[in-house]
Amino acid sequence: MNGVHVIDHPLIQHKLTIIRDRSTGPKEFRELLDEVALLMAYEVTRDLPLEQVEIETPIARTTGWTISGKKVGVVPILRAGLGMVGGILRLIPTAKVGHIGVYRDPETLEPVEYYCKLPTDVAERDLIVVDPMLATGGSAAAAIRFIKERGGTSIRLMALIAAPEGIERVRGHHPDVPIFVAAVDERLNEHAYIVPGLGDAGDRLFGTR
Ligand code: URA
Repeated sequence: MNGVHVIDHPLIQHKLTIIRDRSTGPKEFRELLDEVALLMAYEVTRDLPLEQVEIETPIARTTGWTISGKKVGVVPILRAGLGMVGGILRLIPTAKVGHIGVYRDPETLEPVEYYCKLPTDVAERDLIVVDPMLATGGSAAAAIRFIKERGGTSIRLMALIAAPEGIERVRGHHPDVPIFVAAVDERLNEHAYIVPGLGDAGDRLFGTR
């Protein structure tokens, strides 16, 4: 699928299977989601531009590569997206973190923003929007729109599991935004849960129900 990257690294797939298992409790779920986010971030950032710099080792002068261009921003969609932030920050400790909260209006069924705090230099950053579950795509598409309205231009979306419906919606509204996932599942059920999925990511992450 154009613009959709399924990261099928064995470590990610192994950990994803444990994450999906209903007998995996919140502690292990949290740890594994954190680890998978770190591993996925490695692929999500693969095309960051580099520039050559001169350095001096204890032995000789030489050149090396450093990341150039824009700085990175991570934007979790509340609340389950929070579970992917720590892993990314371990890889990119200088990234700034914005937060977006979206709920669905029960009457209009439209996504409504209830919280949005982004880095002030959002236009200057490569932004990674994170949410473990890309289900209907409503929240993700809305969050990306809110970021664009505030000046964000370089945006990628990272999810653990996607439904085809969610991918289609986000790609339809934001064809400029590449999507990175660990798995594309079969479908959504009548309650908009991903099948087979992993259940409610927020509840499993925070031990609520
Ligand atoms: N959100 C979740 O947490 N799980 C799903 O399956 C769909 C949306």
